[in-house]
Amino acid sequence: MKQFTSLADVADPKALVDKVLQLKASGNSNRNIGSDLTLALLFFNPSLRTRLSSQKAAQLLGMESLVLDVNQGWPLEFEVGAVMNDNKSEHVREAAAVVSQYCDILGIRCFPGLKDRDEDYAEPLLSAFQEYGNKPIINLESATRHPLQGLTDVVTIREHRKSVKPKIVLTWAPHPKALPQSVANSFASWVLAMDYELVITHPEGYELDPNVTRGAHIEYDPNKAYKDADVVYAKNWSSYRDYGKIMSNDGRFMVNAEKMALSNNAFFMHCLPVRRNVVVADDVIDSQQSLVIQQANNRTFAAATVMKEIIELSIYE
Ligand code: CP
Repeated sequence: MKQFTSLADVADPKALVDKVLQLKASGNSNRNIGSDLTLALLFFNPSLRTRLSSQKAAQLLGMESLVLDVNQGWPLEFEVGAVMNDNKSEHVREAAAVVSQYCDILGIRCFPGLKDRDEDYAEPLLSAFQEYGNKPIINLESATRHPLQGLTDVVTIREHRKSVKPKIVLTWAPHPKALPQSVANSFASWVLAMDYELVITHPEGYELDPNVTRGAHIEYDPNKAYKDADVVYAKNWSSYRDYGKIMSNDGRFMVNAEKMALSNNAFFMHCLPVRRNVVVADDVIDSQQSLVIQQANNRTFAAATVMKEIIELSIYE
């Protein structure tokens, strides 16, 4: 693996899931793999799980990690030929080249603007660091994708599935803020790559990118979607069609015990952070069927496996 910016970078997604489970079972036996190597993590947006699990993953492999919380304090210019006489003090051309000198692998988190769909889906920040930097990139959640979360989620499903082709329901849920489609896009992509049955339920107007959901069944009635589900995965996203807009806050889509009772004693999943009693009722997230804490734990093993693959197949090839 040369980089990990999306599912498309993975030659065999099912084999990668096997490798995550092997690494998880192998304890502390990987400490020499990353010795003398440095992981740099750039966060243009906040994070709890991705930041700490990536640092923990580096530690498992014996790597040093450098973390820079950029947030809004480092306005970068992306335009070629820009006359930089406004508030942007550094061009991504230098920034990417400089950061590349300090590390062997570079992780980047940068959320979308949610104003211009074409721009967000072109992934300008990741593309610029690919073009002007020279180190393998790990996507820590970009404008349109969160592949480490998607990998983690299918690993968690694999650990708990009751059949080889479980029924997975991805349900949109209400939220007061307009959120990216990244987690939903990556979850759908990874579930479909596992050949699991995927049903996506949401109010009309919240259809995701059809290129992402091809192979999934769309069901606007959440009660029908939940029937016989083995896993219910909740996530809010803003509209893809009316890009970045909140089209509805339909409370019928909050995950609650009544709807879960329609399922096949389904597991509940969410990437976290989650708004309790808006996205999911307390009695569901606090139930025995909730996997949210196990999911967050698996973030470390997914990240470590991705880093190990990059080290073995790209850095020391
Ligand atoms: N799920 C996830 O990416 O969490 P953080 O935003 O806390 O990193």
